[in-house]
Amino acid sequence: MGEIILKAENIKKSFVTGEVVTDVLKGVDFRLEEGEFVAIVGESGSGKSTLLYILAGIDKPDEGTVTLLGNDIAETDDESLAAMRRKDFSFVYQFDNLVPNLSVYENVTLPLMLDKLKERDYKDRVLEIIEYLGLKDRLASLPRQLSGGEQQRAAIARALVTQPKVIFLDEPTGSLDKERGRQVMELLADINKNRGVALVMVTHSQAHAEYAGRIVRMEDGVICS
Ligand SMILES: Nc1ncnc2c1ncn2[C@@H]1O[C@H](COP(=O)(O)OP(=O)(O)OP(=O)(O)O)[C@@H](O)[C@H]1O
Ligand SMILES: [Mg+2]
Repeated sequence: MGEIILKAENIKKSFVTGEVVTDVLKGVDFRLEEGEFVAIVGESGSGKSTLLYILAGIDKPDEGTVTLLGNDIAETDDESLAAMRRKDFSFVYQFDNLVPNLSVYENVTLPLMLDKLKERDYKDRVLEIIEYLGLKDRLASLPRQLSGGEQQRAAIARALVTQPKVIFLDEPTGSLDKERGRQVMELLADINKNRGVALVMVTHSQAHAEYAGRIVRMEDGVICS
């Protein structure tokens, strides 16, 4: 058994809209081992995205603890959390992943620029990753000039350039047709297997969930594996 790099215990989260209180997460436990690939499935509205945001420290739970790479998220200040997000883990959103007025190359290198690294120190590695994701000929393209699949792959490239230990993905194939979705899944499986990056992926697709080493199902605010 590998080292546990993410541990969430008894996570509770409710949303209040007007007078309606929705208990979305009612005591979720979740663990992720180094290099593991876990898919989170469940019906629309079951709280998958909410859980993913909490696991990645983007949102805070009402109750419970999240320990990510040895840090208790609740006790980590925003600045340290932002630094962790740039170095140790990445997040791929379902939509609006890319900055519209930046080229593919600029989008992909954004986290490295934000971290004030020098281009000569990362350029070769970034180009290798862009080529690996099949975007070599799209370096200068703007996001709107890309297909949905290419945009998703650029977002995955950007998630990879920081050499993270974990990537969180919310429906990375949600807006893609069957063939492009399959290509993205093959890539993710390869990233997990050959680069050792742990993946936590929310998906609607049972077929895509099966690329993962483990599938967890959200139902009625809890995980029922
Ligand atoms: N910021 C918010 N304010 C109020 N309610 C919210 C908020 N975010 C989520 N919810 C509610 O919480 C529930 C779970 O939402 P969530 O986005 O986690 O579901 P999901 O499982 O990701 O669904 P989908 O498969 O449709 O993406 C939904 O009922 C949603 O309306
Ligand atoms: Mg969602």
